[in-house]
Amino acid sequence: MLPMFKNRLILLFGLLILLVFACKHDPSPIPIDPGPQWPAGTTPIAASDQRTGDAGQGYDYLVNGNYVGSGIPIAIYRTVYGDDPANLLGRTGDNATISPAFTALDAANGVRVVAPNCMQCHAQELRGEFVMGLGNTVEDYTVDGSALIGGLDAAVTVFYGNPSPEWTAYSAFRRGLLASGPHLITETVGVNPADKLAVILAAHRNPEDLSWRSTPGTPIPPEVVPTDVPAWWLLKKKNAMFYSGVGRGDFGKFLMASSLLTMSDSSEAREIDTHFKDVLAYINSLEPPVYPEPIDQTLADKGEKVFEAHCEKCHGTYGPDGQYPNLLVDQKTIGTDSVLASSNFSAHFFEDWYNNSWFGQGPEKGQVVAEGGYVAPPLDGVWATAPYLHNGSVPDLMTLLNSPTRPTYWKRSFSTDDYDLDAVGWKYTVEPSKTDKQTYDTTLPGYGNGGHVFGDVLSEGEREALVVYLKGV
Ligand code: HEC
Ligand code: HEC
Repeated sequence: MLPMFKNRLILLFGLLILLVFACKHDPSPIPIDPGPQWPAGTTPIAASDQRTGDAGQGYDYLVNGNYVGSGIPIAIYRTVYGDDPANLLGRTGDNATISPAFTALDAANGVRVVAPNCMQCHAQELRGEFVMGLGNTVEDYTVDGSALIGGLDAAVTVFYGNPSPEWTAYSAFRRGLLASGPHLITETVGVNPADKLAVILAAHRNPEDLSWRSTPGTPIPPEVVPTDVPAWWLLKKKNAMFYSGVGRGDFGKFLMASSLLTMSDSSEAREIDTHFKDVLAYINSLEPPVYPEPIDQTLADKGEKVFEAHCEKCHGTYGPDGQYPNLLVDQKTIGTDSVLASSNFSAHFFEDWYNNSWFGQGPEKGQVVAEGGYVAPPLDGVWATAPYLHNGSVPDLMTLLNSPTRPTYWKRSFSTDDYDLDAVGWKYTVEPSKTDKQTYDTTLPGYGNGGHVFGDVLSEGEREALVVYLKGV
């Protein structure tokens, strides 16, 4: 053997001994807790500290606050959109006659404007009841949201002139809409492109001080990934926000993302942020709506047994002592459409932008942690949250739990009264192909309805009992 080689071998041997020695004598600082056994392909997500706040003040800020601080001058808004006398949010003043999806407020320069709010996406009527926190599943994002800007520009110029204080109060809203609208067009009515909205707005912000940059500084993915807006009442159980579980750390920093549409820079962000501990407290105070008809208890008890055997290891248990395991399920195990879990919030360029930005710095920081896969969500009030899966590709629970019966092309009326309380979900018709924007086409990228096949092994009787049980969780 060549001497040089021999020396290396001795060195290697020495290193190995050192290693073995090190391993043997390393006093393990954290005793390994055998704990509950997580199902294969899943990882628990740890909780992070949250700020505490006041739910009442949170509600007030949510429905009246200026977190989107630029918008349409109020006289023009009223001319275009008209008045909404229903006052579903129980607001006072100008807001008493404005749609729940908008808020009248004073822009930074004192001009009265009307701006979009969180309820654009996070409230909806269902069977005649207005449900705060229910994801909006009827909105139409198949059109370019910036198309109205031409008309608004003309109206503001004719009414007030340009420049004018009204134009100034409108301009940040205009800028945000022009930058995002053309990139947010979905293939079907009822799905939501907000993941991409956040990514576009982030691309237009300098990470350190959140000031606007007209040229995007990070990539804007070409695809518009559809999502079904999750219900707010689930958040109190979750250790991570969003379908892919990427939202970690301080939740308030994620809740205020809408402000990226219009804020000036981080000085405004700092003021807005002080209110979001209260908004979080309000969201955490929400309870799911109760299933509106009697539930057959004998069948529900039978269904609970099925749930214990097939579902609770991922989705947890329900009732007074309910436990929720907060599991992230890897892509291979869940098998649902993979596009969302690798795009937008889950793209590494966004993770970098966010964690290095104003949001990701300081003592109460948000953190994006993109690990792939999807969180097994809590199922509280699941009867009300159709369509199912993160992209809303499955119309009801009966077909969710029997994957071969899921329709490839399906269509609903988009009337919030057309709800099927037995199959639990939207009434729908099966279509031979995609004929219009109302047809959900599950063959499109991001719109797939495969995966989550855990109900397929059940008998028809077990599945029916399981659905009855799920009505009451
Ligand atoms: C344009 C639509 C839209 C608007 C406006 C909007 N959201 Fe959302 N929101 C979404 C979508 C879509 C998701 C799901 C994204 C995902 O999980 O990938 C979401 C997720 C959330 C979640 C996480 C829920 C969970 O269980 O993980 C919370 C909480 C939330 N939004 C609060 C707010 C608040 C507060 C506002 C207003 C300041 C707001 N949103 C404005 C569309 C919107
Ligand atoms: C291995 C873990 C796992 C098991 C087992 C499991 N699920 Fe899920 N479930 C998930 C994940 C992850 C999602 C989210 C997938 C997505 O949106 O792409 C989900 C989504 C759902 C949804 C859709 C929620 C919504 O609002 O869109 C329902 C309903 C559901 N599961 C019910 C069940 C039932 C009932 C069973 C038992 C037959 C079951 N699951 C078994 C992991 C699991």
